[in-house]
Amino acid sequence: MHIYLYLSFALFALTRYVLAEVIDANEVERFCYPEEHKNTRKSCECSNENAPPWGIRAINIDCSYKSLKTVDFSEVLPLYVNTLDLSWNSVNEVPTLASDSLRVLNVMHNNITSITNKKFVKVTNLRELYLGWNSIQSVELSAFDELAHLQVLDLSHNNIHALGLQLFRPLIVLETLDLSWNRQLNETENIQDQDFYRTFGVNSKLRTLRLQACSLTDLVLSEKAALVRLDLRRNMLEKIPTKLPTNLEKLDISGNLFGTISPAVTANLSAVLSELYLEDMPRLQSIEKDAFRTMTALKRLASRIVVD
Ligand SMILES: *[C@@H]1O[C@H](CO)[C@@H](O)[C@H](O)[C@H]1NC(C)=O
Ligand SMILES: *[C@@H]1O[C@H](CO)[C@@H](O)[C@H](O)[C@H]1NC(C)=O
Ligand SMILES: *[C@@H]1O[C@H](CO)[C@@H](O)[C@H](O)[C@H]1NC(C)=O
Repeated sequence: MHIYLYLSFALFALTRYVLAEVIDANEVERFCYPEEHKNTRKSCECSNENAPPWGIRAINIDCSYKSLKTVDFSEVLPLYVNTLDLSWNSVNEVPTLASDSLRVLNVMHNNITSITNKKFVKVTNLRELYLGWNSIQSVELSAFDELAHLQVLDLSHNNIHALGLQLFRPLIVLETLDLSWNRQLNETENIQDQDFYRTFGVNSKLRTLRLQACSLTDLVLSEKAALVRLDLRRNMLEKIPTKLPTNLEKLDISGNLFGTISPAVTANLSAVLSELYLEDMPRLQSIEKDAFRTMTALKRLASRIVVD
């Protein structure tokens, strides 16, 4: 009698153990988030990262194209989440999220109009944050607090016309900043006549800066900045900004309002510049001989311009 009882208990325990394993495996494969919408139309697809470089589990969650709203997302994310894709939904405010492991957050193509203070203080390990293709008009001054590991910030294709002083200061290791296609960014106070780095607290080690189509007539950078790629396509520049970083390797000033390209205009382009883009210049009258003489490192000069 005693023996019989003991055995049945062991079997029961074993069955429970196996069952738990099976459910656990299924959960990781699909529909692990949000908790309260599991196995409904609103659940997101979860998958294991194939080969995470740091050797532990990493889960990628895809919530794209589901007409989800901000309220549909719960704050707590599953353990080991690595990337979260909330793009192409009806999110009107970035949901507050909490995770120690999240590295990539994509909220592009939604309906967000503002980024409020301390939005990301519970996802402090973020490396990449994509906020492009929304209708963001305002970004509050402490919006990016605690993002000390962020390397990529994409705010392109929005409606920002007032960048706050020192806005990017918490982003101490930022490498790529994209503000392109904020067509009224030129309305930002001091953006065209004060040092861009100092005014907005941009990391001096930034490698890539994109400011396409921001209606800029000028920009003040620092010669000592580590910048390697600068995209100023489709602005309203009539001259190349002075004091460009001496490390610059790739510069795109296509689609601006230059009347002539002469040795004087290009005088301050660094000798390390290897790619220069000068396409679609509506006002260009002439390119003078020797205009590119000082650019000894130039490997690629792209121009699609007709001068008569
Ligand atoms: C975006 O927001 C506006 C007003 O805030 C609303 O009229 C519109 O339907 C929203 N679009 C989507 C796709 O949710
Ligand atoms: C910004 O650019 C627009 C043209 O796109 C222009 O009408 C406006 O006056 C500019 N504002 C400033 C402050 O430069
Ligand atoms: C080149 O740099 C010097 C010193 O910063 C400046 O005075 C000059 O105007 C610049 N030239 C051009 C063509 O921008």
